[in-house]
Formats: sequence, structure tokens, C-alpha cells
Amino acid sequence: QKKGFIFDLDGVIVDTAKYHFLAWKKLAKSLDIDFTEEENEQLKGVSRVRSLEKILSWGNKTISEEKFTELMAKKNDDYLSHISKMDENEILPDVPRILNLLKENKQLISLGSASKNARTILERVHLKENFNAIVDGNDVSKAKPDPEVFLIAAELLHTKPEDCIVFEDSVAGVEAANIVNMISIGIGSEEVLAHADYVFKDFTEISDTFIKSLIKN
Ligand code: G6P
Ligand code: MG
Repeated sequence: QKKGFIFDLDGVIVDTAKYHFLAWKKLAKSLDIDFTEEENEQLKGVSRVRSLEKILSWGNKTISEEKFTELMAKKNDDYLSHISKMDENEILPDVPRILNLLKENKQLISLGSASKNARTILERVHLKENFNAIVDGNDVSKAKPDPEVFLIAAELLHTKPEDCIVFEDSVAGVEAANIVNMISIGIGSEEVLAHADYVFKDFTEISDTFIKSLIKN
């Protein structure tokens, strides 16, 4: 049976949160806002626009629309300067093993990310060829927890939502998968991702047997 396996990117395939942090931190500093790692945690899975809105509200700052647009571009330029140095060494442990196992078993694989830089990153780490479909921040109008991104992925893979399995590190992403009855697999901490159908610390904890059981059921 062919299932659709949908992967979030940031925090699932690669750890880009550290680069988002550096870029947001620099921007916050230029506005005299103190930005912490805990706050950065809360931006996981959150769109770029929404992230800047949150940082401004944490810092009690209001800015003009023009300034907002300018800062968004600045943040992304800075982020891209970090991304440009990425290579396959930054792929998170055992992601290639899982992708290969899925391919050997003729399963369908899609990306389902909020990032507008997803394609660039997949190219940098040389994983792009593994995906039958890529849906990212350029393809959607509604952010997670809206399930739009995953529904488009299912459509592109020609699979029913209930035959899809989603790997996610963010609460919003898990919620999005659950809303449309996809199997949600949380990657991260059990407390944070309590609503996921399954939670694993990382892919090293996911056995081949488990993946095969998902394919069969
Ligand atoms: C992912 C990350 C978020 C990021 C968002 C948009 O969901 O977890 O931290 O803000 O993508 O990324 P972008 O690359 O478009 O700024
Ligand atoms: Mg993520």
C-alpha cells in the first residue's frame, strides 16, 4: 500500500532554529529588544510575518508598515547568509535512513513546511531528489495549525489525508495534521507534543519495524 509521508523541514530534517535565532536576535537588538532562546522556541513553526509581530509585541514596540517590510527583508538576508553555509552534515541523525527505507518500500514522500526558504535548504543539504512533492511557505496562504500545507501535499501525492503520516516538531504542525486525520508523529519532547499520535525524541528512536507498521496499517 502507498502511504504519503509528509515531513516538516525546520526541526525535523535540519536544525535551522539556531540560524533563525541568530537572525532574529540581531534584528531585535537593533530595535533594543531583548530576545531570548525561550522566546525563539515559541517561534518554531510560526511564519516569518507572525514571528516579527510576536517579537515586536514582546518588546512593546510598534513600527510603521514600511519599517516592518524592511525588517522582514533584513532578517531573511541575514538568515540566508547562515543557510548558504549549510551542507549535508547538518541533516539530523537518521533522516537519510528513514527516507531510504520509505523509498525502498515505494512510499510517497512530500515536504510540508511553512518556510519560504525550504527549497533552498533542501538543495544545500542535497535531499531535494528524495521528495515526490514539495509544499512550502510559497504555496500556502494559511499558516499551521491550518492544515492547508498538508492537504496540498496529500493532493500532490494523490493520497487521501487519512493515508498520510506527518513528521512535525511544532505544536501547530501536530495540530494541523490531527485536524485532517493524518497520523501525527511528533519529533521532540513528549510534554510539548502531547497531542501527537506518537512522539519520538529524534529519528534514531524510530525503528524500521515501526515505519513498516505504518505502511501496512
Ligand atoms: C518554519 C520555522 C519558523 C520560521 C518559518 C518561516 O516553520 O520553524 O521558525 O519562521 O518556517 O520560515 P522562513 O524561512 O520563510 O522565514
Ligand atoms: Mg518545524
